[in-house]
Amino acid sequence: MIDASGVLRQGLLQLAASNRVRDLVEKAPVSRSLVHRYVPGAGLEDAVNATRELCDTGRMGTIDYLGEDTLDLGQAQHTRDAYLAIISALSEQGITRGGKVEVSLKLSALGGALPGEGRKVALEHAREICQAAANAGTTVTLDMEDHTSTDATLGALRELRQDFPWVGAVLQAYLYRTESDCRALAHEGSRVRLCKGAYSEPESVAYQKRSEVDRSYVRCLKVLMEGDGYPMVATHDPRLVEIARALAVRTRRERDSYEFQMLYGIRPEEQRRIAERGDQMRVYLPYGEEWYGYFMRRLAERPANLMFFLRSLTSKG
Ligand code: FDA
Repeated sequence: MIDASGVLRQGLLQLAASNRVRDLVEKAPVSRSLVHRYVPGAGLEDAVNATRELCDTGRMGTIDYLGEDTLDLGQAQHTRDAYLAIISALSEQGITRGGKVEVSLKLSALGGALPGEGRKVALEHAREICQAAANAGTTVTLDMEDHTSTDATLGALRELRQDFPWVGAVLQAYLYRTESDCRALAHEGSRVRLCKGAYSEPESVAYQKRSEVDRSYVRCLKVLMEGDGYPMVATHDPRLVEIARALAVRTRRERDSYEFQMLYGIRPEEQRRIAERGDQMRVYLPYGEEWYGYFMRRLAERPANLMFFLRSLTSKG
């Protein structure tokens, strides 16, 4: 059984696919200020400045050039070029060495959804970005999109790792399959970012109740922490953060053998607190004009944000 907040969340995620709603949200004056909480800006300079600020406060970064599901080859090439430009700009700042600041990619933004040769195109673009990351001394992590793309993303991961063994991937605890995927990826040199999952998924493939997702997250965490890979604990949930810390102590992990991760703008004081206590904390920092899909997923995660947003949309002035 799915609870009331789950129904709200799924409804909102489905609305995210409607072009009419997209138009309304993108044009609403209130959007800009709310979006700004989660996305520091549209330009490369905004991203570089926000990343510098993270580094100055002891946090690491992973940068996402916003965009997804593109059906236009030119747009996919533009996304690749944007990644090459941001890697070069961050490298000039001296903050990519040792993987301090890396990038996160969505294969569907790089052309993965193009008809025909899409997967090949996206893989080629990802390769070019990985080469640039290697030259800058840093890493790349593949974001995970909805469940219909999980196998393709893990297939791309395997191919990329042949040349760039440090490429990481995201696994989503809400999918039934994920505990088994964690086992397959808990090997030496394997970087796995574990999150709860942000898409609207059917009961046939995913847990629907928050409590079930949380229990799955803990099972997956145990597999990753007990394994030989490099777990990236991506959650803002204080209970899961503490469980991860306790598991790391129990499995005798050094503090540099795993890391915590949170999204830009969410629980920033907690991000700083975790970094100050000596744990590694990386912040996922998105930038660019294509903020709609990302923003709608952030609204769906937190009903209070949604109510504030809806009230602002319907009030005059
Ligand atoms: P939960 O949603 O239970 O939130 C715990 C607490 O965090 C809340 O009580 C609230 O205090 C705070 N919080 C959470 N979301 C908030 C919001 N939007 N606004 C304000 N406060 C909020 N998903 C995916 O499907 N594919 C992916 O590739 C990624 N990548 C990714 C990278 C990183 C670094 C992170 C941290 C997350 C992702 N995600 C993701 C998103 C993830 O699946 C999930 O939707 C969010 O992290 C929210 O889940 P929490 O684990 O934080 O728990």
